[in-house]
Amino acid sequence: PALPLSSSSSSTLADANGPKQPFVIGVSGGTASGKTTVCDMIIQQLHDHRVVLVNQDSFYRGLTAEEAKRVHEYNFDHPDAFDTEQFLECIEKLRCTQSVQVPIYDFKNHRRCSESFRQVNASDVIILEGILVFHDPRVRNLMNMKIFVDTDADVRLARRIRRDTVERGRDINSVLEQYAKFVKPAFDDFVLPSKKYADVIIPRGGDNHVAIDLIVQHIRTKLGQHDLCKIYPNVYVIQSTFQI
Ligand code: CTP
Repeated sequence: PALPLSSSSSSTLADANGPKQPFVIGVSGGTASGKTTVCDMIIQQLHDHRVVLVNQDSFYRGLTAEEAKRVHEYNFDHPDAFDTEQFLECIEKLRCTQSVQVPIYDFKNHRRCSESFRQVNASDVIILEGILVFHDPRVRNLMNMKIFVDTDADVRLARRIRRDTVERGRDINSVLEQYAKFVKPAFDDFVLPSKKYADVIIPRGGDNHVAIDLIVQHIRTKLGQHDLCKIYPNVYVIQSTFQI
């Protein structure tokens, strides 16, 4: 039979050859660098595949009563602020094509909504987004592709001031204080050093359409190879013999 050239038709997670392992993409970068925009653009362009987004933010630990009283002394940019074990468990389940219940985090009250969760179903592509998704090697090693969104610090700070005052119920002084005391030092200590793990660094974030097009092309190729391998397992054996 003629070989399909790509997996452009809607793919399903399981076929006659058994379940497929999803393609996992990590998207990291400093606060307000445009990570969410980059993820949304990738999801939009991969509309013929099932893609889910899991935000590391959903795994912020809720504050204890004591911590909540002194929230201005709490460092939300340190790796310990996240429940990484739970994040890892969630990714591992999704990789095994199981659906998961992801917590919903409330940035205004610094806690998780205790009753509601977001159901995330098994998918062809899983995108993991967050400031510190490359920090823990166990999470990092589950990724097939790592993207770092690189946006100038002044642009990020300006966006953060706007976002935190408009959407997260903060006043400008507290945003600037938190930025100087925790956000910037943690960026230098943890986020920036994790940039070296990236496969692709995108300057200017969501404004960089060329970079996003290239990334989407690469993901499509990888998903296509995956499908071909499942449908015609022998094809790749023959090809690799020729390559040798
Ligand atoms: N944060 C906070 N208060 C909390 C929890 C987190 O101020 N209760 C802040 C942390 O200081 C951290 C930031 O939230 O710097 C992480 O979110 P960020 O990456 O800025 O949000 P995204 O929308 O994912 O960023 P982007 O604009 O890149 O999409």
